[in-house]
Amino acid sequence: MAFFSASILSFSTLFLFMLGIASAQLSSNFYSSSCPKALSIIRGAVNTAVSKENRMGASLLRLHFHDCFVNGCDASVLLDDTANSKGEKTAAPNNNSLRGYEVIDTIKSQLERQCPGVVSCADILAVAARDSVVKLGGTTWTVPLGRRDATTASFNDAQNNNLPPPSLDLRGLISAFNKKGFNGQEMVTLSGGHTIGQVQCTSIRPHIYNDNNIDPNFATSLKKNCPSTVGDGDTNLFPLDQTARVFDNTYFKDLVNKKGLMHSDQQLFNGGSTDSQVNTYSRNSAKFFSDFGSAMIKMGNLSPLTGSKGEIRTNCRKTN
Ligand code: HEM
Ligand SMILES: *[C@@H]1O[C@H](CO)[C@@H](O)[C@H](O)[C@H]1NC(C)=O
Repeated sequence: MAFFSASILSFSTLFLFMLGIASAQLSSNFYSSSCPKALSIIRGAVNTAVSKENRMGASLLRLHFHDCFVNGCDASVLLDDTANSKGEKTAAPNNNSLRGYEVIDTIKSQLERQCPGVVSCADILAVAARDSVVKLGGTTWTVPLGRRDATTASFNDAQNNNLPPPSLDLRGLISAFNKKGFNGQEMVTLSGGHTIGQVQCTSIRPHIYNDNNIDPNFATSLKKNCPSTVGDGDTNLFPLDQTARVFDNTYFKDLVNKKGLMHSDQQLFNGGSTDSQVNTYSRNSAKFFSDFGSAMIKMGNLSPLTGSKGEIRTNCRKTN
């Protein structure tokens, strides 16, 4: 009898413990009964947007990164400024650079029609990032779900240090990622996101004019559309690698050939501790792909709001 009640006690303790875990952790089947079409709706809208404009896949991947590195993956990056609170959109790393907000709005309104108030904006960002990589020919991974949306955003936290600037050296890049719980290898892996998308002249100017670890012919060709004078051609765009419409390992091949676009990119292959990993990825795209999937899952787990924290926004740009 004593044994019996003790086992009932430990059973219920275990049950409560599991409930606690369930509310603190994400799970890939989170919407399987509450919104079974959620994933196919997001995939459909991402495919449409990327078919219309290839670069949008890159923009959606970056949106998830910039969300997660500033106070966790909570869709704070999507909140518009209000009279009382300046959000993250105009902070230096994002202003006139981060894009894709309209695609998230489209996805959100489709989801609200299908299952109102159920799918968070933070989860939309995580799934859209994965679907973008798949659509552009890259790898896939299973996205843990159940993030909830922040009710606040922070201009200062997006402005200061959380998002690494392209001026960083290898040490600074590793340290920026260490602060988020990643090691140097995971930093290199995630930097492989620069296999897709475009970069503005302002972001490459210091590298192409001041650094000597760049292929001279490549530098000359970039200088044609990116003049040395600040204010001249600042917003002109350049592909982030030689095959920037496709998610592949060309970014790493380019680094080996001293054809990185930004200072921070070429730092990954500059005679330091990360050279061997860049070499490996340049020869083994399967290795890059599988590491990238794991690192993206880890990035998506950065401080999510779960359980009763935060809310499920109706409109990703505004708190409810
Ligand atoms: C390692 C440190 C990183 C630095 C210093 C960095 C910096 C930048 C900068 C400055 C731009 C171009 C902004 C512009 O000129 O408008 C950019 C673009 C981009 N970044 Fe990063 N980034 C880093 C890591 C990442 C990570 C981890 C990802 C995703 C996994 C990522 C994905 C992208 C993508 C896809 C673009 C192109 C976006 C588009 O075409 O709209 N970056 N990054
Ligand atoms: C963002 O960019 C606009 C130019 O498009 C500029 O007027 C504004 O001052 C910038 N915001 C911040 C906070 O720097």
